[in-house]
Amino acid sequence: MLKPIIIANWKLNGDKILVQKFIKKISFDYKKYFKKNTIILSPPIIYIEYMKKCMKNLKLSFAVQNVDYNYQGAFTGEISTYMVQEIGAKYVILGHSERRKNHFENNLLVAKKFYCTKINNLIPILCIGETKNEKKSGLTKSILKKQIDEIFLICGKNAFNNTLIAYEPIWAIGTGTNASPILINKILKFIKKYIIYKSDNTNIKFYMQYGGSVSTENIKDIICQKYVDGVLIGSGSLNYKNFLKMIQISSKN
Ligand code: PGA
Repeated sequence: MLKPIIIANWKLNGDKILVQKFIKKISFDYKKYFKKNTIILSPPIIYIEYMKKCMKNLKLSFAVQNVDYNYQGAFTGEISTYMVQEIGAKYVILGHSERRKNHFENNLLVAKKFYCTKINNLIPILCIGETKNEKKSGLTKSILKKQIDEIFLICGKNAFNNTLIAYEPIWAIGTGTNASPILINKILKFIKKYIIYKSDNTNIKFYMQYGGSVSTENIKDIICQKYVDGVLIGSGSLNYKNFLKMIQISSKN
């Protein structure tokens, strides 16, 4: 069976002290649990190099939380895929609902970033999901389809090969209310079938995550679902005790 993929998205949180403490604590348990999971850490990009320095021999992967689709030039405040490669990160979180909402990223912009990420040999982690109102109106599947369709339009049939896709219902992010494991499985099954259908290729390889209030209490029931390859953890990943516990639980899966 595939090793569960556990992604820690620190968002705009943390500092050097947290990085030090976090790495020190998780290093201790590395051998016990970490080889049974694929761990991807996503602190703010500015701390990645420092985190790597603290890690010494610990081998963990990194994701950045955003990237620009321009390679270089007069784009103040942006970070390119080349820079992401230079600091040694392998993954790029794209289309997170907080970027869609706070930075007005629409499906087209997300698709351009996705394209740029892929052609520069980084792995996109595409976040998709619906709002509470869209869910209430029965629009979940059509919203997800739209978010996926734009990627196909810009990136072609093989768009999702070797990528990660995270179903993150907006109503579950940071609310303490996760989607039920049964619903997660149902939606991920839908996403998988839809991507395979649109790719016209049953051999296409991509991995599916769930994100939205994943915690020590619910991870066990989420991670064991058939279509769940892993989880994307936000606030729960800032506390190393909770993070370690979640990894420990996922190792027993
Ligand atoms: P949360 O965030 O775990 O704090 O709900 C998840 C996410 O935004 O990816």
